[in-house]
Amino acid sequence: MENKHMVELAKRGVTEIRVVHVKSLQQKLFDVAMFAGVLWITWKMMSRVLDKMNQAEGDDGRSDELKKKIIKSLNKAGRKIKWFHTNTYEDALLEYVTLPNQMTITFDDIGGLGEQKQSIRETILLPLKHMDSLRQYSALLCPPTGVLFYGPPGTGKTLMAKAIAKTAASTFIYLKISAVMSKWYGETSKLITAVFTLAQKLAPTIIFIDELDAFLGKRRMTDQTADAHSKALFLSLWDGLSTTHYQGVIVLGCSNRPYEIDEAILRRMPRQYQFDLPEEVERTEILDIFLNETLNNVDTNLIASKTEAFSGSDLRELCKVACSLPLQEALSQLPPEEDMLRNQLDLSIRVVNSQDFVQSLQKVKPSWVNAESYRKEKLSSDLRKRNSQPQNESEEEESID
Ligand SMILES: Nc1ncnc2c1ncn2[C@@H]1O[C@H](COP(=O)(O)OP(=O)(O)OP(=O)(O)O)[C@@H](O)[C@H]1O
Ligand SMILES: [Mg+2]
Repeated sequence: MENKHMVELAKRGVTEIRVVHVKSLQQKLFDVAMFAGVLWITWKMMSRVLDKMNQAEGDDGRSDELKKKIIKSLNKAGRKIKWFHTNTYEDALLEYVTLPNQMTITFDDIGGLGEQKQSIRETILLPLKHMDSLRQYSALLCPPTGVLFYGPPGTGKTLMAKAIAKTAASTFIYLKISAVMSKWYGETSKLITAVFTLAQKLAPTIIFIDELDAFLGKRRMTDQTADAHSKALFLSLWDGLSTTHYQGVIVLGCSNRPYEIDEAILRRMPRQYQFDLPEEVERTEILDIFLNETLNNVDTNLIASKTEAFSGSDLRELCKVACSLPLQEALSQLPPEEDMLRNQLDLSIRVVNSQDFVQSLQKVKPSWVNAESYRKEKLSSDLRKRNSQPQNESEEEESID
């Protein structure tokens, strides 16, 4: 302000002048934008810190990497999966998502079980692949929300599930029960819920539960409250899949004790496949698969006729033992063990033949046979002991007298 004006004001009695800065509209807008920016950055930083703090135990930020791997592998297998957001509980389950490129078993690796393979192709694989078009046509054509494989041990149930994972254009969650059973109260429910929400985010998805009876066995009065609650929650989430429009999630369970599974669970598994011990023709097919890559001179029809009541895994054991015989033979012709360790091995091993198999049959029996004969032996020895006890006691009594 010029001096002239100051003097003028002083003459009029003005003793104090205050300078007030009035902001223009542009300046005000700039301030608001700055404030919003600072708020946004603070919010982002806070949520990052909170995210880190919330990360599940043992997760050191690997979840993003896992997600990238899952997306890449599924897209390679013909899926169109985009980036998906997950909470900490879903993150903890990411490692149970089996990637198609990790799977090696195909339907060709399974001997026998022709009817099961055919039906699985028609009722699970095909509808899963063409889910969208079938859903538009009729909801009745959608794949079932629950499938059960049951039968004796070693008959190819898990193998079939793996082949489905390889063949189906779907996500496969190999659920380990230990993964959802947390020691912390309330965590189990959140993890069980996460199984279903993650499955829906990655649908079509197969949730595979091996040894289903161990997790979803008959509910008993003696069940811990937490166990009963987990089962009830699982059932209600499972129901949610079918009551809303079809979401492309199948729960596939395996069991060799289907009578131990809760009836409510069985009701939710309308599609059930029995896996029996293989018949003779099926045993030939299985033996052919096992011996496919081994030079051999084996009449698989003959061996199949001699292996009644053998399961697929028993046949595998038989093949292993038979194939080890030519090796043992070759080793026995080498100098003593000390020399073998020093010198380089130069073995000429003959091809395995039917005679090796006949010899191995002396050693390898169906797995249940050993257990059964042990049970019988134990029973009869217990019986013998019990029968001899009263006699001893009466003898003792007599000697006291
Ligand atoms: N039908 C089959 N064809 C080829 N191999 C088989 C077949 N059945 C069983 N096997 C062999 O037996 C092994 C065990 O099979 P698998 O794990 O599928 O049995 P399972 O029915 O799931 O048994 P469990 O009820 O004990 O879990 C397989 O890895 C495979 O080598
Ligand atoms: Mg199994």
